[in-house]
Parts: sequence; C-alpha cells; structure tokens
Amino acid sequence: MRRDPITGVVGEPLPHDSAHLHVSGSAPYTDDIPEVRGTLHAAIGMSDRAHARIVSVDLEKVSAARGVVAVITAKDVPGKNDYGPVFADDPIFATTLVQYHGQSIFAVAAKTVFDARRAVKLAAIEYEDLDPLLTAEAARDAQSFVLPPERLVRGDPSAAIAAAPHRLSGEVRIGGQEQFYLEGMIAYALPKEDGMMHVYSSTQYPGEVQLQVAHALGVATHKVVVECRRMGGAFGGKESQAGLFACVAVLLAHKTRRPVKLRMDRDDDMRITGKRHDFVTNYDVGFDDLGRILGVRFVLASRCGYSVDLSGAINDRAMLHSDNCYYLENVAIQSYRCKTNTVSNTAFRGFGGPQGMLGIEQVIDDIAIARGLDPLAVRKVNFYGVTERNVTHYHQPLVDNVIHEIVAELERSSDYHARRRSIRDFNATSPYIRRGIALTPVKFGISFTATHLNQAGCLLHVYTDGTVMLNHGGTEMGQGLFVKVAQVVADELALDIDRIRITASDTSKVPNASPTAASSGSDINGKAAQAAARTIKQRLTDFAARHFGVAPEAIVFRANAVQYGPDSIAFEELVKRAYFARVSLSATGYYRTPKIGYDRKTWRGMPFYYFCYGAAVTEAAIDTLTGENRMLRVDILHDVGRSLNPAIDMGQIEGGFIQGVGWLTTEELWWNDKGVLMTHAPSTYKIPVASDVPSAFNAKIFESGGNPEDSIHRSKAVGEPPLMLAISALHAIRDAIASTADYKLSPRLDAPATPESVLRSLEEIAVRREKSRAATISTEAVVE
Ligand code: MTE
Ligand code: MOS
Repeated sequence: MRRDPITGVVGEPLPHDSAHLHVSGSAPYTDDIPEVRGTLHAAIGMSDRAHARIVSVDLEKVSAARGVVAVITAKDVPGKNDYGPVFADDPIFATTLVQYHGQSIFAVAAKTVFDARRAVKLAAIEYEDLDPLLTAEAARDAQSFVLPPERLVRGDPSAAIAAAPHRLSGEVRIGGQEQFYLEGMIAYALPKEDGMMHVYSSTQYPGEVQLQVAHALGVATHKVVVECRRMGGAFGGKESQAGLFACVAVLLAHKTRRPVKLRMDRDDDMRITGKRHDFVTNYDVGFDDLGRILGVRFVLASRCGYSVDLSGAINDRAMLHSDNCYYLENVAIQSYRCKTNTVSNTAFRGFGGPQGMLGIEQVIDDIAIARGLDPLAVRKVNFYGVTERNVTHYHQPLVDNVIHEIVAELERSSDYHARRRSIRDFNATSPYIRRGIALTPVKFGISFTATHLNQAGCLLHVYTDGTVMLNHGGTEMGQGLFVKVAQVVADELALDIDRIRITASDTSKVPNASPTAASSGSDINGKAAQAAARTIKQRLTDFAARHFGVAPEAIVFRANAVQYGPDSIAFEELVKRAYFARVSLSATGYYRTPKIGYDRKTWRGMPFYYFCYGAAVTEAAIDTLTGENRMLRVDILHDVGRSLNPAIDMGQIEGGFIQGVGWLTTEELWWNDKGVLMTHAPSTYKIPVASDVPSAFNAKIFESGGNPEDSIHRSKAVGEPPLMLAISALHAIRDAIASTADYKLSPRLDAPATPESVLRSLEEIAVRREKSRAATISTEAVVE
C-alpha cells in the first residue's frame, strides 16, 4: 500500500485528536464554554406521578423563590409545544396529562443552578391519578401500543415447526440500559440579533435540535444555529432526546432575552431521558438431530415508554437482526411496540439489534442442550452459507460473509475446545464455583434503515499558508470520528495531519446533516470529506498544470508538496500562487450511500449497504452460593474491513464489548409499582469499571481483505457491532449454571445476570432437576 512520509494517513494508529486534552482535563465540553455576562441557569419541574391528569399547577412559590427570574409552562411556547423526532407526541411541557414519572411540566431560569433546582421543588401540582401500565407484558396484554404491531414472515414456519423431528419453546427477558454518558444532558442558548438563537447542545444530531428549537420558537430554521464541538459520550441517548433540553433553554432565553444554560443533574437526567428498550421475547422452534433450525417463530415485545420517539426504527432493527448469523428459511417475527407509563425509550448502541440477536442466540443454546451438542457446533450448522443459504429473511443476499473464517480462527486462537473440556473437568469436582464458556458470533447491518438519512456533507477550506479547516455533519462523542475523517483528508491531500484543523459540528456550516448514529459516521462523513478534498485537489491540479506548463497527469501530491514532473513545490507555495490566480480554495463535499433501499411494507430489499462481523469467546465463573459472577478470560476477533485507524477501532471494540457486558450482567433498571425509577444514580445502577475488565482480554482486529463494498478506503463501521460480542458473557454464565444440572436442562436466565438473577436461575433449575429426577425414579419404579 502507498505510504507517504507524512503523519496521519489512513490506516495509521493515531491517538484521538483530543486525547491530550481529555487526559489533562482541558477539552472544553458544553458546560466549560465561558459564560456570557448575564447567563441564567435553568431547571425542569418534573412530574412525580407516572400517569395522572393534571388538575392544577400552582407555581407561585416557585416564582417567589430566591434567584428566580422566569418561570415558563406550555403557555410560554410561541411555536409548537413538541420535540418529537418522528411523531408529534413529545410535549416539551405536559399540559393536562402526565404519562411518566419525571415528565417535564414547567421550567425555571434563575441566577444560579442551585437556585433553579431548589425552586422547581416548590411547585404545588394537583393530580388525579390514573392506572399506570408499567411493563411491556402488561401493555402487550392490554393492547397498548405506540405503533401498530409488525409482522415479518418468510417461508412457512408453522408447517416447518410442526413437521420438525424436535421442537422446543422458551422465553427470555432482556433488560434495558441507561446510556450513562459521563457528560449529562446540557444546552446553552444565546439570544442573538433579530430573534436569532445560537445553541450549544450536547447532541448527536445538531440538525434535528435546530428544527426542534425552530418549531418551539415558531421561527424559520435559518434563525437557529446549533453547535457541538464534542460530547462526553452519547451512546444513542443524545440522538433524539437532547432536543428537550435545547428547547427548554431556548424558550427561557427567548422569554428573558438572556443567555440560559440548562445542565441536568445526574439523577434527574436518568429519570427524564429514555434508555435501551427492554424486551420480552418468546420463541418456538423446530429442528433436526444436528440442531439445524427448520422453522422458528419469535414474538418480541418491547417497552417503548409513553411516546414513539425512535421506537419504530429500533424495533424494526430488532426484527432485522433476529437472524444474527443464522440462515432462517422459515421464520415469523411478530413485534409489539408497547406503550407504557415510563420514560420514552430511545437509541442505545445497537439500536434494537442486540435485543433481536439475543433471542436467536438463546434458541441456539436451548437446542444444543436439548440435543446434547456443543452450542458452537449448533451455531455452525446454522450459519449462513457463502454461496448458498445466504439470503436473509428480508431477502437481502449476503455477499460478504466472513463469519466462518472469523469463528475458525478464534476457535483456534482461544483454544476453545480444550478449555471447554477442562472447564467441565473443573466443574465436576468444584462444589460451589462453577465455570462456563461460550463463543458467540455477531453480524450487524450497516446503514440507517430510514434510507434518507444515509447522506452526509462536508465543508473544506484551504488557507493561504497551506493549512486546512475541516467541517462535516458528524459529531464527536469520544468515538474518534473527527480524527478518522481528518486522516481521510490528510491522505487525500498528502498533508501532515496537524495541518488539518478539526472543528465543531455546526448547522450553519453543513446543513441538514444526519445524526451521527447507526455506526455510519466515518462511512458517510469520510466519503463526503474525501469528495471535498478531491474537488480542491482537482482545482489545484488544473492550476498547477497550467501554471507549470505540464500535463495534469504529471501533477502528484506527495508529502506536503506537489510534484510537477521532476520538480516539486511546497503545498503552501502552490496554494498561495493559486490564490493569486483566483482559484477557489473552499469546497463542499457530499455523499449518499449507494445501492440501499427496501420496502418496509413487504420487508423486502436492501436495508443495509454491508455487514460487520465478529466473534467472542468468554470464560466466566459464578459463585453458586451468592450468584456473583465474573469474566476470567475474553478473546475477540472483530472485522473492521481495512481499518482507518486501528487504535481508535480497538478502543471501540474493547469499550463496546465492556459496555455490552454491563448491559447483560450488572446494569439493572428497576421501577417500583408506582412507576418510579429507583435506580437513578451510580449508587444503585452499576456500570462496569476498570476492575470488571477480565485480566486476560485478547481483542484482535480480523485481517480483512477490506470491505467488498466501495466504503471509505474499504473500511467498515465499528461503533456499535462490538457491543453484541458481549452476548458471549451471558452465555458463558448460562453454561456455568447449566453445569449444575449436568448440562441436561436449559437455564432460564434473565438479563442482566446480576447475582440475584443468577441465584433465581440456579434455584429454578434445581427445582426442575429435582422434578426430572423424581420422574425418572418413578419411571424406574414402574419398570421394576
Ligand atoms: N464511543 C464513545 N466513546 N462514545 C459514544 O457515545 N456511541 C456509540 C459508538 N461509540 C459512542 C461510542 C454509538 S451508539 C454509535 S451509533 C457510534 O459510536 C456513532 O459514531 P460513529 O458512527 O462515528 O461510529
Ligand atoms: Mo447509536 S444507538 O446509533 O447512536
């Protein structure tokens, strides 16, 4: 591969562009932006009922409280009292009805943040309580949905299941997950001339915040500028729901004509914002002696909360990932999008995909136990083929299936088979500590399933000293998007990366940009930036050819310089001459993902441009007396195509995996019977920390020949897929539990596998073991 003697080309493992600022505490986040004189601080008055009619709202004491400058309700919204991203069902301020505990009813601007937070507690709100529906199951049974149920069918699953030599059915409960971005929700609104508004927002989607704010104010979009330099994490939580905080700050700024900052307190942030959807998945499956699935039916029910938000696309993605890596010839997937009186659940890394995949992985494990087979063997007989059995249940052919190679390599490098045997030996003589191992694969589709979002724009300036300003529609949330896109530009123009200035996402520079989500940030913004750089390069090439009297083919950009035939000129010198010759040194770039598109009604087509693959082996130990569990060793092999930046990609692989382990083992969301979220702080909600990382953690990037599709430099997206590698941790724990019943019964293990959940599972399996033993004894008695 060509390598210029410059720093920062594509494929170089550069550190994150802000790493030196992150570690020294000097990377400014929204709250660190120097406050403009007169800045007020806001707080939101939240509902303390899950479902109630609002009878009256008395805010007299709030207004009179120390430091309070303004109090607003729905009556103070000049435009539309709504920030719903897809449907208009998310009021900025509830008026007559509250639908979840924590819902916004009014807001306050005060001199200090503590004045504001104290004041909102003084409201006297009279409610008339209504019965709350709190769980997905309760809502499913009551037919309470945010969107109509969906059904995807291929083949004839009922006939296939009925005719199969073996059948089983089961259920798995999959918990939700709080995004727990380290920087909470925040917006800082600055009123500008002539009714304009400048908003600093911690958002993955500045373009949508701009629209939400414009609608709330009832003004044209061009009156609002939204800017975000970086987020301290987002994980999907800031894709649609940052809008509420921006709207509240802006409405208070509009009312007071002063700058207003709204920074959420952690506990309030956790109560008021949506999380990963928890699912209840039921299945029944028919299979043959080898464990090959002949027909399968899934019924998915997810807790969407009180409004639609992104639940349509999230549940669609769960349906589209119910196959994971397996060919399902006869399949039916029924999806219920349950409306509950809880916070509106939203995007979280994987976007429904992980929940969909967990269902089929449990099916595979159950089949393995029923047939007395190694789950890995059952996985393999069900894998998609490469040239046959390679069409997904939504009729998209897999053209890039590398799961066989990945699993074969990982099986070897992790020593899976020998370790599985020695774990069984260990368990045979270990009374209390049990070990388990599991290898699980991942296939994840890349592209927004809302096809129109698969587009991106870039703005590139070259200054006369030869330095470059790069701006694109993507946002930086720690994932390293900005440095990757800068590497694409450095590579294109053959410039050292420190000549490229990375700048904040800004709706006035790149308009109508899509959210940075669906892992597609570097794919689409990288291509848009490449297009802009190529435009500039073409202009400079044409100019140099004219200027030096050589053919354009003789012009080569190399190592901060431009060669023309045998001679060369410094890049900045050429740029200067181009400027004097009146050549434009600024360009936009645009990209739309080719090929994709599908019919949502028939569930047919090509929702994804390509797929990412990976696999993980986790070995875990459980304490059967306490239910405590931990990972002992993890091996990962993950496909990122030809990496734009292996250091950044490795960070995503390791971080994504550990975040997934948190979802499936320690992070438990718990609402009481009044619909109050009781786990709203790190004291009661446990995210993984450094000590939860296994001491043997071998993550490796798969040596890929590159993305077969024409993605940016043949790389693959990496943001979300590694999270789903964590399913191996849950299955390793299941394997350890299964050892207590001689691997003859399939444990019922609800995620997250907290100590309580593991103990429940152990007790449940012990009861079944006793029953089956009693049954055997009585059969023996009859035989005698
Ligand atoms: N990594 C960090 N450090 N912080 C984040 O908030 N979000 C994840 C993933 N990795 C996230 C992250 C999610 S949900 C997505 S969709 C992708 O990053 C988005 O960025 P990308 O498209 O540039 O990969
Ligand atoms: Mo990621 S859940 O697509 O923001």
